[in-house]
Amino acid sequence: MPPSSCVRWPICDDVAVCGAFRRSLLPMTTFDDPLSHPVLAVLLSRRSLGVKHLVEPGPDDAALRAMAAVALRAPDHAELVPFRFRVVRGAARERLAALFEQAARDAGKDEAAAQLDGERARRAPVTLAVLARIDLGHPLVPAHEQWIALGGALANFLDAAHALGYAGKMLSGAKVRQPALQAAFCGAGETLVGWVALGTAAAAAPPAKPLAARRPKAEPADILRPWP
Ligand SMILES: Cc1cc2nc3c(=O)[nH]c(=O)nc-3n(C[C@H](O)[C@H](O)[C@H](O)COP(=O)(O)O)c2cc1C
Repeated sequence: MPPSSCVRWPICDDVAVCGAFRRSLLPMTTFDDPLSHPVLAVLLSRRSLGVKHLVEPGPDDAALRAMAAVALRAPDHAELVPFRFRVVRGAARERLAALFEQAARDAGKDEAAAQLDGERARRAPVTLAVLARIDLGHPLVPAHEQWIALGGALANFLDAAHALGYAGKMLSGAKVRQPALQAAFCGAGETLVGWVALGTAAAAAPPAKPLAARRPKAEPADILRPWP
C-alpha cells in the first residue's frame, strides 16, 4: 500500500511518478547498502567486457529497441537527441572489418595488426557505431550540454544492455578520425564517437570481481561535497 503520508496519494499507484511509493516498496530500510536495492545492484555490477570475450547471441531487434528506449530517458536539454546508433551485424560485420583493416594499414600498422583490428568487427555479435549530432549554433543549448546528453544516453544504453543480460564495451581509438570510416557512418554534421561492441559474455570471460574486491576509481564522498 502507498504510504498514507504521501502527498501524491491520488496517483500513488503510478510507480513511475511517486517517489514516496517507490521508496515504500524497497526491501532495504537504509541507503547505506546500495547493493540491497535490486536496481542499484544491477547498475553497480555493470562492467565493460572486451570484444574477445563476447560470443553469440547478441541483442536482437527487440532488445536493441529496449536499450534505445532507456538511452532516450537520459537527461537531454531541449530534447535535441544529439546522438544516433548505427547497428552493424550479420554480413555487415565483414564490411566493417574491411574498413577497420584499411584504417589500420593507413595508420601504418603491419598486416598482422590490421587483421587483428578486422577481427574485432567480425567477432562482436553486434557493433553499434555511436554518432554525435552537435548543433553548434543552438540558441539555447551549448555544445557541452549536448555532449553530456550523449554521454548520459550512452551510459543508459550500456546499463540497459547489462540489465538485459548482455555484455559489451565502448571503444574509440584513432580510427574515429579515419576519413573512410567517418564517411561510412556519418551523415552531414555528425561526428563518429566510436563503437559499442555487444554480445553475451563468454563462459571463459574473466569472472567479474565481487564489488567489494574492486578498487574504486573514486569514493562517493570524493564526488559529493556539501556547498558552501
Ligand atoms: C567515449 C568513450 C570511448 C572509449 N574508448 C575506449 C577505447 O578506445 N579503448 C578502451 O580500452 N576503453 C575505452 N573506453 C573506456 C571503456 O569503455 C570502459 O569504460 C573502461 O574500460 C572502464 O571499464 P568499466 O566500464 O568496466 O568501468 C571508452 C569510453 C568512452 C566513454
